[in-house]
Amino acid sequence: MCGIVGYVGKQQVAPILLDGLARLEYRGYDSAGIACMENGAIQVYKAKGRLQTLSDLVQGGQAVRSTLGIGHTRWATHGKPSDENSHPHLSQHGRFAIVHNGIIENYSEIKNALLAAGMTFASETDSEVIANLLEQNYTGDLLRAVKATVDALEGSYALGIVCRDHPDRFVAVRHASPLIVGLSDDGNFVASDIPAILAYTRTIYHLGEGEIVELTGDAVRVFNSDLEPVIKQAEEVTWDVKSAEKDGYDYFMEKEIMEQPRALHDTISARINDHGQIVLDGVHLTRQDIEGFRRIYIVACGSAYHVGMVGKYIIEKTTRIPVEVDLASEFRYRDPIVDEKTLMIIISQSGETADTLAALREGKARGARILSIVNVVGSSIANESDDVLYTWAGPEIAVATTKAYSTQLSMMYLIALYMAEKLERIEKEELRSLLASLMQLPELVQQVITRTKPQIMALAKQFHQVEHAYYLGRNVDYAVAMEASLKLKEVSYVHSEAYAAGELKHGTISLIEDGTLVVAMAGCHRVVEKTVSNIQEVKARGATVIVVTTEDNTGVERVSDHVIYLPKVKEMFLPSVEVVPMQMLGFYMAKERGCDVDKPRNLAKSVTVE
Ligand code: AGP
Repeated sequence: MCGIVGYVGKQQVAPILLDGLARLEYRGYDSAGIACMENGAIQVYKAKGRLQTLSDLVQGGQAVRSTLGIGHTRWATHGKPSDENSHPHLSQHGRFAIVHNGIIENYSEIKNALLAAGMTFASETDSEVIANLLEQNYTGDLLRAVKATVDALEGSYALGIVCRDHPDRFVAVRHASPLIVGLSDDGNFVASDIPAILAYTRTIYHLGEGEIVELTGDAVRVFNSDLEPVIKQAEEVTWDVKSAEKDGYDYFMEKEIMEQPRALHDTISARINDHGQIVLDGVHLTRQDIEGFRRIYIVACGSAYHVGMVGKYIIEKTTRIPVEVDLASEFRYRDPIVDEKTLMIIISQSGETADTLAALREGKARGARILSIVNVVGSSIANESDDVLYTWAGPEIAVATTKAYSTQLSMMYLIALYMAEKLERIEKEELRSLLASLMQLPELVQQVITRTKPQIMALAKQFHQVEHAYYLGRNVDYAVAMEASLKLKEVSYVHSEAYAAGELKHGTISLIEDGTLVVAMAGCHRVVEKTVSNIQEVKARGATVIVVTTEDNTGVERVSDHVIYLPKVKEMFLPSVEVVPMQMLGFYMAKERGCDVDKPRNLAKSVTVE
């Protein structure tokens, strides 16, 4: 996620901005910059890479003679990491500088209109349109120009805005992306998150949805979106910096589980336009391309591989194109049957996993078309792909993936529907209905979190001392069982295996004995009766069974010790709701066991070695 810091007051601003941005580094970034009011003009200093590069540029801030400015660390979404794409962005005539955290979903329309009006742009970003829109809307009244501008924006944005004509003040706006105000006798601040300004003040307030704030060195005025004054109640921060980085959660993994509704919203909403059409920016597959594919490989590692398992079921069902899912470490050495009639879908959160990158190169060398789903803009896998679909989960800090996995799933659904639509293999009404349900998925995931969290915490307390756990499922439930099992074992160190429910009786059932914990994923209605039979098989051998199913499937109670009920959802999207309680089960079991949840032993966030 991007980081924003702003200050106006008695102190030199640049050192404060650099220090504040340094305290936001945990949010992940690939470039940084500051804009300061110097001698009646806005000076912008920005650079790709680490914050130290920027700091060196301005001698730690000492080279900048200014007491008003805004700063930004950028997590790229639109436009690769580069000096030009870094924030702050200046408007065409240098009157405005802006920093932005979030995604402007209608930036293309705005940019085209501004280009038609003769404006020029220096970057590939969505954010830069805000600076030029301000320039266009400005007639001397700063707040009115800000209101006119944000009224035209769709999406999520936390903004910092400096205007050359008002050297004693700056403005900030909050819409879906958080922003706080800090108050002190030495001056006033805005920041994306509390850690950035804790060294200077503990007196803060959170801006509300749509609120606009104007700051000078000795006054702060807050307005609602209609520019009516709002009275805010300041609060004293009691957190220390470490807990503030986790937004009050004990671990990043828990924070990232809870961020999934927002991550899904950001990733999905920008890909379905107002006319209900799928818009896959960065993907240029034509009907002819898709008709030319004789086979699709989905290749990845770990959790990303489990996303591919879901993708196989869904893409084959909707497009009738054969899909093979393979582990990258296996694919690259098995002389795979790949040619120019092959589509390879590469899935990777980091975009740097060595085995996955090598598999990509192997497929490319044999003529495959490469479409990758990646969370890190400008990563190696993204740069070497023919088409790239970015997940907008924001940086994922915990080693165990959760929000990246979930957003990758949503991209699988969209790719399947995109290709089925191109091939005219799906009725328009069915497509409309599925996309409408997909748009509701973030809200549904929020419901699942709220509804199941207390039950999961209780189950984690009850079962956290087990030594083994077996996850079962059929069809897409099996793919989710694989991810559920990995989530448990990689953070709690409980031995766990996932099995196709129908396969258990071919050997592994010999391990089931009195008290063995079995978690059965039973959401897929088409095969639920078969799964119930498999549950009965393990129950007969003494297993303790937790069943995960949808609320209309109460028949499973007769074979379960515990049932986790989920809201009904279209089968295609079932994995997205089933996985969430399983992520929480892994997390809370690990927490109960006192594990280092965010940094499990032996694991790395990105496995950049073979
Ligand atoms: C999942 O929780 C693990 N962190 C691991 O399996 C991970 O999914 C795998 O290493 C692939 O990483 P990538 O998505 O960055 O390529």
